Amino acid sequence: PIGEAAAAVEPSEAARKVKIGIYFATWWGLNVIFNIYNKKVLNAYPFPWLTSTLSLAAGSLIMLVTWALRIAEPPKTDLDFWKTLFPVAVAHTIGHVAATVSMSKVAVSFTHIIKSGEPAFSVLVSRFILGESFPPSVYLSLLPIIGGCGLAALTELNFNMIGFMGAMISNLAFVFRNIFSKKGMKGKSVSGMNYYACLSMLSLVILTPFAFVVEGPQLWAAGLKEAMSQIGPQIIWWMAAQSVFYHLYNQVSYMSLDEISPLTFSVGNTMKRISVIVSSIIIFQTPVQPVNALGAAIAVLGTFLYSQAKQ
Ligand code: 3PG
Repeated sequence: PIGEAAAAVEPSEAARKVKIGIYFATWWGLNVIFNIYNKKVLNAYPFPWLTSTLSLAAGSLIMLVTWALRIAEPPKTDLDFWKTLFPVAVAHTIGHVAATVSMSKVAVSFTHIIKSGEPAFSVLVSRFILGESFPPSVYLSLLPIIGGCGLAALTELNFNMIGFMGAMISNLAFVFRNIFSKKGMKGKSVSGMNYYACLSMLSLVILTPFAFVVEGPQLWAAGLKEAMSQIGPQIIWWMAAQSVFYHLYNQVSYMSLDEISPLTFSVGNTMKRISVIVSSIIIFQTPVQPVNALGAAIAVLGTFLYSQAKQ
């Protein structure tokens, strides 16, 4: 009977692992495509506030259509839900726009190397703002993360302060987003997919007026004319692709959050950055010095040590 029970449990556990594996592979693949189109757009049309807004708008539209066609059941929300979502949306908006501004100034790989330092921000915020404490091994794992990111930043050939600060601000904002979002999703019946849909819509409302003030239609129109003359109408397709893939990778990541612990999620996120760093260096032929690559490798290794230490 024990053997039978084990046999009954095994396939479902194996099926769960396959499902999570598929989520992860899809999430990373979609993210690599997003990062490539996003950078192609930013190289030709450097308006990160507009493109960040368009990504959120595409996601909101996709989800409204999905709900209208009943492909997915719309969530039942109340005022309380939107109030709890508000701080998450503010943090999501800041983290998103800051990462996009960063990528408009530096290589995609550099932004993601700095973003691999997110666990360090998570520990520091939890320690100094929330008063949580961790075992010494967790603090020790921060040394390679911070040291590796520092080495990569110092030896980056095309270092730019706005690019660096954008990635750092994005790290800080996303730590708050994750803390608030864990609280917001707890005990609620809204699925990961619908939660992310509502997050996109609220973030879109928050970001739109800022995009108009910081950049605005005049600059957008002049920039588009120039991009059209250099790239042709293809630029519109690139913009559509970056917007749609932004939504899709985030949606899949929130769907996998339903199935896995936040810790497994953060390990998955780090693995995702490795695929983005490697593929973007190859595609954009980013010049990398050996010592620069060493810094990135140490930082990524540090995030693995961190996840082991947290376990
Ligand atoms: C963005 O534009 O929001 C960032 O590229 C997102 O970064 P992530 O890899 O942490 O989702």
